[in-house]
Formats: sequence, structure tokens, C-alpha cells
Amino acid sequence: MCILAIESSCDETAVALLDSPISKDGSLLQNVSTKPNCLAHALRSQINWHKQYGGVVPEQASRMHTETIHQLIEQVLDKAQRSFSDLTAVAVTYGPGLEGALLVGTTVAMTLSRCLSIPYIPVNHLHGHIYACMIGDDSPQFPFVVLLVSGGHTQLISVTDHFQFKILGQTRDDACGEAFDKIARVCGLPYPGGPEIEKQAELGDSYAFAFPQPMRGQGLDFSFSGLKTAVAQKVATLPKDKDLPVSDIAASFQLAVAKTLTEKSILACQETETQQLVLSGGVAANSYLRDYLTTELSTAGIDLILAPKAFCTDNAVMIGMAAYYQLQQFPVPKISRAIVRPNLSVEDLL
Ligand code: KG4
Ligand code: ZN
Repeated sequence: MCILAIESSCDETAVALLDSPISKDGSLLQNVSTKPNCLAHALRSQINWHKQYGGVVPEQASRMHTETIHQLIEQVLDKAQRSFSDLTAVAVTYGPGLEGALLVGTTVAMTLSRCLSIPYIPVNHLHGHIYACMIGDDSPQFPFVVLLVSGGHTQLISVTDHFQFKILGQTRDDACGEAFDKIARVCGLPYPGGPEIEKQAELGDSYAFAFPQPMRGQGLDFSFSGLKTAVAQKVATLPKDKDLPVSDIAASFQLAVAKTLTEKSILACQETETQQLVLSGGVAANSYLRDYLTTELSTAGIDLILAPKAFCTDNAVMIGMAAYYQLQQFPVPKISRAIVRPNLSVEDLL
């Protein structure tokens, strides 16, 4: 009894196998409350290829998913000592993401579903990021607020029950991860910028530069484009004959981001009278942000649940986890084509 989960929405091809108490025909066993167990997972990142262009090249991303996905499926089945005939359901990200990249995963998943006569579960990638918080030992209880910070999204989301999502606030321009990537480029650091900025910031002074916090005190929406411009303008005024103080820039930028995300998260919890905040998405892998939120939320009396670091950036375990809970909430949709939705919102349900 296992769900094969596939993720191919951007530049990571990932496959996971989750053991779950679901019967072979896809119907659920009664009174299921245990979490699924990850039997095996595999991921191949395309970052080293895309790096040379400073960002993801969509056409190449699709090609690389096509070349890799079958190997990863076999690898995961081998690792878990399972075969295709053991599969109970196949789950796949169908949006949001790059259209061609999504089509690779959905086509493979639909083919498996048809050939093996098992349910096909289309999963919203953003739901995957949220359900990543269920992977660790420390799961949240409803209701909670999610701070979802990734390369494409920055959102505060109220979650009152399984798949009851309401966007409380979001970025009006760049996503938080995108800002990390752009600042890294301004500082001459490679793509993706998040981990590079984090590394540099460890050596820098967070108070070397006073970068602004756009939209501070103006509700729950964010703006990262203004912060990016402020950093770029500061860099432009620095003497060209001296080395750029990259570590100080990175540390000061990171502090401005952490302050903004934290203040708005606390406000979101207060406005919704919620006691728990979940941090998820690629930027949630940032240790400085994790530590900053931990301290500030503890002072504010709000519990913080961190998605496990290894499952913050794109992976298939989170897709399998979302699929498992989706199966419990909704009947398996009768879909016979590999549809993709590149612009899916977290509020969109099947
Ligand atoms: O969730 P994700 O893997 O993909 C999307 O769904 O967008 O997030 C990728 C983003 C990139 O912008 C990357 O720079 C950022 O997450 N990121 C980080 C860190 N690791 C990844 N940002 C800050 N610190 C990190 N350690
Ligand atoms: Zn993602």
C-alpha cells in the first residue's frame, strides 16, 4: 500500500514513495489517523546546469525532467524494495509551476495510473509546501497560520482545517526567494541566491547597512521589490576601487527580510486569533530566519512549527504528504488527461 509521488514543477525532479493505510482500490480504511511513512525518496537538482544562465531555462528544465524521471522512479522503488504492482495511487504536482516541466510529471503519472489502474491524484504544489510541516514529528493543530516563502510565492495563509485555506496577505511584487536570488546576483553570487546569501551573511554585520522594510505597518501584504532596489542602489554608491562588502550586505538584507516576515506573521496570528505559525517553502531553509522567528514568536507567545529543513525546498515527499490528506478529504477526481495549471492559487481546490 503506497503512494508514488512526483514533483517536476521547476528545476528539481523528485520522486517519493509513501506508505499509507489506503486500500488497493483507492478507498480509505476507516479511522485512519496515523501519518504516512516515507519509504524512500530521491531528488535530482538541475541547478548546476541552470546556474550558467543565472536562472531557470524552462525548455531545458522540461528536457532534463524527461531524462531523469524514470531513473528516479526505479531508484525509489529499488530503495524501498517495492515494485510497480505494490503501488496504490500516484500523486503528482499539476501546478503552479512551469507548464512544460509540469507536463513531464503529470504525463508520467497519468501513464502509470492508466497502466496500473490506480488512482491519479493531482496535487497543488503550494499545498505540498504547507503539508511539508506534517513530515517531522512536530505537526501543527488546526487552526494555524502558514508563512509560505518560496521562489515564486510569499504568502500568509490561514488554515482552519485540512484544505481550508484563505490568503491573508501576499507579496505585491517579487517573492521573497526571488529577492534573495536578485540580491545575490547584485553581489556577484551564483544562482540560487538564498543559500549563498545565507552563507555570506554568517560572516557579516547585520547592522552595517540600514535597509528599509517596505510596507511596514501597512497590513499583511509584502513588497520585496523596494528592498531589492534599495540594496542595488546602496551597492551602486559604494566605492568601485574596493571589494564589495558582500557579507555585510547579505547580513543586513537578511535582517530586513527576517524583521518584515516576523512582524507580519505576528500580526496575522493576532488578527486571526491563532496561536500557531508554520514556516514553509524554500526560504524556510534559511537558518537565520528560523532562529529569528523562533526567538520573536516565543516572546509573542506563538508556537512555531518549522517544516523540516531538508523538505523546505521542492521535493516529492511533501507532494505525497499532501496527496495522502487530499485522499482523505476528497474523492479521487475522474481525470483522464494530464492537465496542468501553471497559475494555480493555494486557495484553488480540485
Ligand atoms: O520552494 P522552492 O524550492 O521553489 C519554489 O517553489 O519556488 O524555493 C526556491 C527559493 C529560491 O528563491 C531560493 O533562493 C530560496 O528558495 N532558498 C533560500 C534558501 N534555500 C533556498 N532562501 C534563503 N535561504 C536559504 N537557505
Ligand atoms: Zn516550491
